Amino acid sequence: MPPVNDVAAAPPRFARTGAPSGPFDPNDDRAYRAWRAAKLAAYPAGLSELIVPVRDPRALTGDEHRALADACARANMVIYASPHTAPDKDLPRLLARQFGLVRLDHNWLADDDGISSVAVSGSGARGEFIPYTDRPIRWHTDGYYNPPDRRIRAMVLHCVANAATGGENALLDHEIAYLLLRDTDPALVAALMRPDAMTIPARTDDAGVVRPAETGPVFSVDPDDGALHLRYTARTRSIEWKDDPEVRAAAARLEVLLAGPSPYIHRVTLQPGMGLLCNNVLHDRTGFTDDPARPRLIYRARYHDRIRTDR
Ligand SMILES: [Fe+2]
Repeated sequence: MPPVNDVAAAPPRFARTGAPSGPFDPNDDRAYRAWRAAKLAAYPAGLSELIVPVRDPRALTGDEHRALADACARANMVIYASPHTAPDKDLPRLLARQFGLVRLDHNWLADDDGISSVAVSGSGARGEFIPYTDRPIRWHTDGYYNPPDRRIRAMVLHCVANAATGGENALLDHEIAYLLLRDTDPALVAALMRPDAMTIPARTDDAGVVRPAETGPVFSVDPDDGALHLRYTARTRSIEWKDDPEVRAAAARLEVLLAGPSPYIHRVTLQPGMGLLCNNVLHDRTGFTDDPARPRLIYRARYHDRIRTDR
């Protein structure tokens, strides 16, 4: 793996002026209007435009790479469909690397290589966490409890084995969520950009604090490249919204938006060999029932990098 410094950051999309300005600045209506028009004009019409067949995720052809990059540039996500169904972590790891994703987030439940094997875990520490059960998971972005220096900008979910029934993901580009909220009322996105909009309380165990409380904005703009980031969970326990009418109203509006129906919410059940590559878009998961002979197994790789769409 090359040193991190060898990976050039994505080219800045907006001038770096200190204060955020551009389409994600609630006060910059002109930039927003231009960005909005371009975003909607280029937005994929349906899920079929976001599914790209690939021969080998580990070594994409030029055309395959372009198709995946193009979908990510337009919708912050793409689903690749490959014939490779072996339990091989190189499939997501080497795919991700072709898009500049190299800085894996090592959370404490990940395997030693930084890629999590997400499957039902009957016992042990993992079994206490919803991803490692067969229960539904509400809308969220990954790592919403992480500190800013461990922000999850992109991820790959690679399916080795699917469930007998269920295990469907709903997906929504977080830029579209921003656009729909801002179209309703720019004050909604401004409220969700407050630096104290959402707090995830500390997690403690018998030994004390395992993870400190994390307070931060819901929508934020990356100072390095101007990209929009979303930190969100629809869960109602272990989360504290700022006790402020505007923040509460904005969170409620986002919840309504995510409840759908919406032409922008895509639902997909990954099949073996398929995977989701995305800039940590909003997603959920339905509950599922495993085939005991071949339980559901998803490799999850979370990155501090954002997807590079050039090559
Ligand atoms: Fe997730």
